[in-house]
Amino acid sequence: MAPLVVIGTREPDGGYDLAPKHMAMPIGWENYFGFVCTPRHHTYQNVLREQAFTVSFPRPEQVVLASLSAAPRCEEDAKPALAALPILPASVVDGVFCAMPIFTWNVN
Ligand SMILES: Cc1cc2nc3c(=O)[nH]c(=O)nc-3n(C[C@H](O)[C@H](O)[C@H](O)COP(=O)(O)O)c2cc1C
Repeated sequence: MAPLVVIGTREPDGGYDLAPKHMAMPIGWENYFGFVCTPRHHTYQNVLREQAFTVSFPRPEQVVLASLSAAPRCEEDAKPALAALPILPASVVDGVFCAMPIFTWNVN
């Protein structure tokens, strides 16, 4: 069974990209994390250029939301579906996380 993570990277225009990956895992006990990505994807090119990425682990109820980050790019290589994803800024690298929406309700 493969995990589902969302990799966050910085785009050349200063915006942020999020993309789901199944082939991903922590590597060793230090701060290393590996994922497999085709060089055709922006994610691969962004990591090479920026030397940084974030990793978000969606909860089960977020799987559909996370899959939006796999939306194909349209004109000018834009990925407008990302606007629907809640994000949080990263604090150690220049990047964003796919935020975990917190659902609350009143019992009264
Ligand atoms: C559930 C899921 C898992 C995926 N896992 C991978 C993966 O492990 N490696 C990969 O190269 N692409 C994977 N993809 C495809 C890319 O993440 C996807 O095409 C993405 O839109 C590429 O965006 P980018 O060009 O912004 O990097 C996966 C897609 C989905 C829906």
